[in-house]
Amino acid sequence: MIAIAIDGPAGAGKSTIARAIAREMSFIYVDTGALYRAIGLYMIKNRMDDDELIVSSLNKIKVDLKFIDKEQKIFLCEREVSGEIRTPEVSMMASRVSAILAVREFLLDLQRGLAEKNNVIMDGRDIGTVILPDADVKIFLTASLEKRTDRRYKEMLEKGLNVTYDGILNDIKKRDYDDSHRKVAPLKLATDAVVVDTSEYNLEESINLVLDVIKKKLS
Ligand code: DC
Repeated sequence: MIAIAIDGPAGAGKSTIARAIAREMSFIYVDTGALYRAIGLYMIKNRMDDDELIVSSLNKIKVDLKFIDKEQKIFLCEREVSGEIRTPEVSMMASRVSAILAVREFLLDLQRGLAEKNNVIMDGRDIGTVILPDADVKIFLTASLEKRTDRRYKEMLEKGLNVTYDGILNDIKKRDYDDSHRKVAPLKLATDAVVVDTSEYNLEESINLVLDVIKKKLS
C-alpha cells in the first residue's frame, strides 16, 4: 500500500488539495481533522467542558469513517455529521480535545487501519510524525497567516455562516499556537517532509506543486 501524509496548519488548503490528488491517483482521502471535530461536536452537544469527563466518556463515543464513492463521510454514534462538524465552534473544540493524549490514542488504530488496507492520502497535524512515520511521501503544506485567514473566511461566508474576518483570524492564530505547542503529537515538520508554501499560488497551481513532489518521490 502507498501512503501520502500531508500535515500543516489550519487553512493551508490541505483538504482541498488532498481531495483533488486522491481523485487523480484513485487513492482514498482521509481527513483526520474530522475525527477530532466529531469528538469536539460530541462534547459541545453534551455540554462537556472538563478534560477528565471527556476522557471518561470516550467509551460511549463511536466514531466511524465511511467512504462512499471514495468520498469520506463521518459518523458520530451512527449519525452522519460530515456537515455539522464544519463550524468555527467545532474547530476550536476539536483543537482543544486533540491535545488530550487519551483522545489521540482512541483515534490511532482507526487511522493506521485505513492506511494498512488502502492507498491513502491522509491529512492532519501528526500524520508524518506519529500516525504514519513510514509514509512514502510526506508533505508539510503551509501558507501565510493572511492567506489562510482569507481562504477560511471566504469558505465560511459561502456556507452562509455568520463570521467576521477578525474572528476567523483570531481562531486560526489560537489554533496554530495550541496545535503546535501541545505536549502530545504537536504540529511540527517531520525531518523527511517536503515543505510546500501555497501563499503565492492559486488552487490549480498548488495542486500541481504537490503532485510534482509526490510523483518525484514515488518514481
Ligand atoms: O484539520 P482540521 O482543521 O479539521 O483539524 C481540527 C483540529 O483537530 C485541529 O485544530 C487540530 C486537530 N487535529 C490534530 O490534532 N491532529 C490531526 N491529525 C488532525 C487534526
